[in-house]
Amino acid sequence: MIIEPIISGVVAKSAHPEGCKKAVDDQIAYVKSANPIKNGPKRVLILGASSGFGLAARIALTFGGADADTIGVSFERGPSEKGVGSAGWYNNIYFKQRANQAGRRAINIVGDAFSQDVREQVIEAIETYFEGEVDLVIYSLATGVRPKGDGEFWRSAIKPIGEAVSGASINLETQQWENKLLEPATDEEIEGTLKVMGGEDWESWIDTLVNSDSVANGFKTVALSYVGPEITHPIYLDGTLGRAKVDLHQTSHALNLELSNFDGNAYAAVCKALVTKASVFIPGLTPYLLALYQTMKEQGTHEECIQQMQRLFSSKLYGSETVPVDGERLIRMDDWELQPEVQAKVTMLLDQMNESNFKQLGDFEGFQQAFLNLNGFGFDEVDYSSPVDIEALSRLKP
Ligand code: NAI
Repeated sequence: MIIEPIISGVVAKSAHPEGCKKAVDDQIAYVKSANPIKNGPKRVLILGASSGFGLAARIALTFGGADADTIGVSFERGPSEKGVGSAGWYNNIYFKQRANQAGRRAINIVGDAFSQDVREQVIEAIETYFEGEVDLVIYSLATGVRPKGDGEFWRSAIKPIGEAVSGASINLETQQWENKLLEPATDEEIEGTLKVMGGEDWESWIDTLVNSDSVANGFKTVALSYVGPEITHPIYLDGTLGRAKVDLHQTSHALNLELSNFDGNAYAAVCKALVTKASVFIPGLTPYLLALYQTMKEQGTHEECIQQMQRLFSSKLYGSETVPVDGERLIRMDDWELQPEVQAKVTMLLDQMNESNFKQLGDFEGFQQAFLNLNGFGFDEVDYSSPVDIEALSRLKP
């Protein structure tokens, strides 16, 4: 079977296993040549480990100097009559192969991170493979739904709060700029987003680990967040997602107090805006991403998830005696994104950007390439005309 990229709006409906392997290998090669993580953790749990920041964190911690063993939780689908399966499914498989070849443990748990069942599987894996304790938990889930437990769901909405906001999205299927008016969220949507993307589930995970005596002395936990510059605040920080992130920041303070019993710490790390499966979904954010990629590449400060995560662990979380934080106790991985010279250029580009010039003014090519790469497409080294053996792929287990 030949696998072609199938894109519906901003969602990829197909993935190329060989390209996913290449993406994992490229990230491993990067961290092996980067500033290494010193005194890093050895036993790590990553919630949301199969793509974006979570996968990058897993690769950095295993191959970027810490030599960590990892348990990765993700929600992905394998090959079936419906299709070849998701990119994250193959990322799990190929990451594990590479980790095992390097003598590292890599346990993949594919299921709903909100569920009790997955919590139990994780505790059992910590008992079996980590001698009962974990040194670091990365919370990197991005999703739209969380089960309430009674057959009902909380659903997150990406909307402004209070007033309608206009913004553009770029449809990756048609490559067209689409102007949108986003109506303000209802109270139910605000509440749903808080439940799905706020700090409650992170706190519940850490409580579960504490209650099962699975937390090592000196334990750390980090959840990933976004803040962004003022131009993005109407759709992000002042909207439903931003409210959930502020809740996550507050949770980091509560958890930090709780973890002092273990000489431990909890942080929210504010990351850079990047093209991931989750972020292309945020209406109004794409023009900003195009302008940001263009500017940071020009200025030589552009990073992808893997550079962000390697820098987080090597120079912030484990790099020095004290973890550098801002006045709100946040780790700022968006420090380069928010530099005044970057934002001045981004604002200038956004002022001029419209439906007819966004491909010239912004880094549309880089944006599109990054999106294709997430799904295993667009790599020169992969022969996409060569048929893929689905039977053989079906036998690979995460
Ligand atoms: P992503 O979509 O690439 O990764 C999400 C991960 O969560 C995947 O491993 C997926 O399998 C897993 N997942 C989703 N639902 C799950 C469930 N019910 N059970 C188990 N696993 C589940 O997303 P990305 O962009 O890496 O986002 C991760 C975090 O980083 C989010 O909190 C996001 O807000 C934050 N962030 C993202 C930025 C961006 O520009 N992409 C910027 C700053 C922060």
